[in-house]
Amino acid sequence: MKKNNIILIGFMGVGKGTVARAIFKQTGRFSVDTDDIIESITKKRIKDIFADHGEPYFRDLEKQCALWLEKSIDNTIISTGGGFYRQENLKDIGTVIYLENSFEGILRRIHNSPNAEKKLKKRPLLQNLEEAKKLYDVRVKEYESVADFVVNVEDRAEVDIVKEIFEKIEG
Ligand code: S3P
Repeated sequence: MKKNNIILIGFMGVGKGTVARAIFKQTGRFSVDTDDIIESITKKRIKDIFADHGEPYFRDLEKQCALWLEKSIDNTIISTGGGFYRQENLKDIGTVIYLENSFEGILRRIHNSPNAEKKLKKRPLLQNLEEAKKLYDVRVKEYESVADFVVNVEDRAEVDIVKEIFEKIEG
């Protein structure tokens, strides 16, 4: 039977964690974040995992995390790192929601945040914006194709985003 988790996928900086926290505020449902789980279990920052061990090592940790989520977690909101959507068992973890925003909209969101510099610095794949845009262009189609539902978040209030997520899930 399909699990009752909601998995938030989408590009770096789109606001997956923010939406997860808004869902908690409005519904009381708790969330976990795949990057936080990996940082906690390794006791290392994502950017240090990339620097010390390379991206493939990080992707393997994501895979282990995905298998654990499928086995052990239910009734939870799961916010994910921007590359987590590639997990083979994604759909077995729960209902997949793609939070969609334009590349420009995402950069605007990051730059308007009070800790913009920190948000940019902690993301190894956002260091070169030209490369990041290329990654975005490839990923947009892939996010769409793995998602059960797509929710546009560009310049929208959190309450509206949360409302649409639940309207879509509950049909
Ligand atoms: C990544 C996104 C990051 C983090 C890692 C790799 C990606 O998470 O998992 O730096 O491949 O898009 P956010 O989406 O929270 O930035």
